Amino acid sequence: MSKDNARKEIEKLRDAVNYHDHLYYGENKPKISDSAYDRLFHRLQELEEKFPEFQTANSPTSRIGAEPVGSLKKRRHTTVMQSLQAAIETDTIESFDSSIRSLAHKKKIEYVAEPKFDGLSVELVYTKGELEYAATRGDGRTGEDITNNVRTMRSVPLKLNGGGSVPERIAVRGEILMTKTGFQKLNRERVGNNKESFANPRNAAAGTVRQLDSKNVAGLPLDIFCYELLQISEKEPETHLEALDFLKSLGLKTTRQRQLCSSVDDLLDFRESMAKKRESIDFDIDGIVAKINNRSLRNELGSRGRSPRWAFAWKFPPRQEVTRQFDIVVQVGRTGILTPVALLEPVDIGGVTISRATLHNEDEVHRKDIRVGDNVRIARAGDVIPEVIERVPEKGKKRGTPFSMPKKCPSCGDPIVREGAYHICPAGLSCRAQLEGRLRHFASRSACNIETLGGKTTEQLVERNMINDLADLFGLSVEDFMQLDGYAEKSAKKLHDQIQNAKNIPLDRFIYALGIRHIGEHMARVLAHHFESFDKVRSATLEQLSHIREIGDESAQSIVEFFGDKRNNESIDRMLSYGVNPQPVSRKKAQKLKGTTIVLTGELDKWTRSEAKQRIEALGGRATSSVSDNTDYLVAGQNPGSKLDAARKHNVKVIDEKEFENMVG
Ligand code: IVH
Repeated sequence: MSKDNARKEIEKLRDAVNYHDHLYYGENKPKISDSAYDRLFHRLQELEEKFPEFQTANSPTSRIGAEPVGSLKKRRHTTVMQSLQAAIETDTIESFDSSIRSLAHKKKIEYVAEPKFDGLSVELVYTKGELEYAATRGDGRTGEDITNNVRTMRSVPLKLNGGGSVPERIAVRGEILMTKTGFQKLNRERVGNNKESFANPRNAAAGTVRQLDSKNVAGLPLDIFCYELLQISEKEPETHLEALDFLKSLGLKTTRQRQLCSSVDDLLDFRESMAKKRESIDFDIDGIVAKINNRSLRNELGSRGRSPRWAFAWKFPPRQEVTRQFDIVVQVGRTGILTPVALLEPVDIGGVTISRATLHNEDEVHRKDIRVGDNVRIARAGDVIPEVIERVPEKGKKRGTPFSMPKKCPSCGDPIVREGAYHICPAGLSCRAQLEGRLRHFASRSACNIETLGGKTTEQLVERNMINDLADLFGLSVEDFMQLDGYAEKSAKKLHDQIQNAKNIPLDRFIYALGIRHIGEHMARVLAHHFESFDKVRSATLEQLSHIREIGDESAQSIVEFFGDKRNNESIDRMLSYGVNPQPVSRKKAQKLKGTTIVLTGELDKWTRSEAKQRIEALGGRATSSVSDNTDYLVAGQNPGSKLDAARKHNVKVIDEKEFENMVG
């Protein structure tokens, strides 16, 4: 085959594959069978391999992923990626509308209402019709370059449609989402592979699309909706609706769910209809967005702070569902605390099947008067454990008997003791449930971070008596792990390596990993910074601990008791003899935020709440949850809550994510 013919055929094949990708993933209207598509794709791959001089980054063959990268590059955005003013209450949309009307001086106001997609915001830039790059929102000015990963998403065109007039350069904003069904499937696979599952489709989308190896992104159930034209080199469309139609004509995926509205009532109707559709759509949406249709009016109105004045996100209230609760079981946690858990007829709450919900403690069960067989209302808000909020009474129904906590531990049979609101099994590690819980905690992300030691593995290790104590973990060999269900040589070696690597754990994480009652991540850091070596922490007296401002009596007592316990000491000695060597945490670095109290509010882009907290504390600062006169800074992320008002009231300096990042360096 001549080079010229090869080039021509390659071009034809690329156009054909792009066209069929668009029909399949963009329009949901495939025209050819999967096998016919595969033939086109493979022929293209074959020719590109034979004629590598015609390879380009935007060939549809790049959909299978590129070489992994060490870290994601930074990308400066074309225009600052702003966030939206947001609220749940109806009167907020009314005041949004009236402020728009007064600012617009009696001009006719038209809104476009759209779903608020609950995913990951992305900027796509096309030059000469080809995808140049894709970047996450980041701090609004600079994001992470996820081009290779986005190229694997077939709903994102690599080349814009020639049919519409292709602009020289265009920047659009959209949301990357994971389908609910795809999310459930992915989680099942992750659990099967001993990986931690994702809490919801948004986390799954954000976690997977920011991976370093794009080959792992290819084939994931990710999708996109483009909802804003950010910049265009040619003449701008006059309205948002025209802009959306234009994006669609270029082959970019937009939603059909949009509505022109001229009043708050229209917006209310749209919100209601979306709320009704919410459960049947295969994507998470968490509200609606009202946007002014006229783009020049948008420019006149401009922005306030980090949000445009011309748009408003009106969120749905937290999700709740009613279901029957057919049993109450009692779970024993790692510290021996017993928690009543409601077993439910499975109910789908926003794409996540819920079959258990916490009832917190016995007093709560009595206060809510919940009995086996009752119908109950369950709430799931964000990433927190679902909880039973209330009983839903049913007329004339005969009810079960009131709930009471067992007198004996459901796992080991030891008599239960009561401490305040808590019921506790005092058996410690000889109680299997506590041992399993302790092991899971020991391996968790904030402790030893042994990623592959999931729930199923832990269960088997305890059940088969391979572990009677945390220290046993370090003595297990690759061969031992190979005996476990679901393990082969490679996976057993990986787990073994991760455990061995955990031996040089930072001191604060090690203290936390031990699972001492009342000692969370923050206290563990305080202890690590104060004592600087594990030996000193271990031998600390009540007197020494009482001089540390942040350690209360209860925690001090618990630390002394823990290290005074014979069994704990034997276990720790064995860990040390296996080579566990907790690393001191530098004091100098730790002083940077000494004496500074910081409160976090809203969503940060680059940090989870606990990461930001960890960083503040690692630098010697305090991260507290409510604003007071003692607060030095409030870090306000997207959608800040009432803490922002509290900060103004207390004259607390408010900083954004960028400033926070500079501060923690
Ligand atoms: S418009 C200037 N439209 O909601 C704001 N955002 O802050 C431009 N979102 O991070 C965004 N659905 O990622 C817009 N139909 C929609 C949206 C939407 C979801 C996200 C966006 C932003 C977040 C709120």
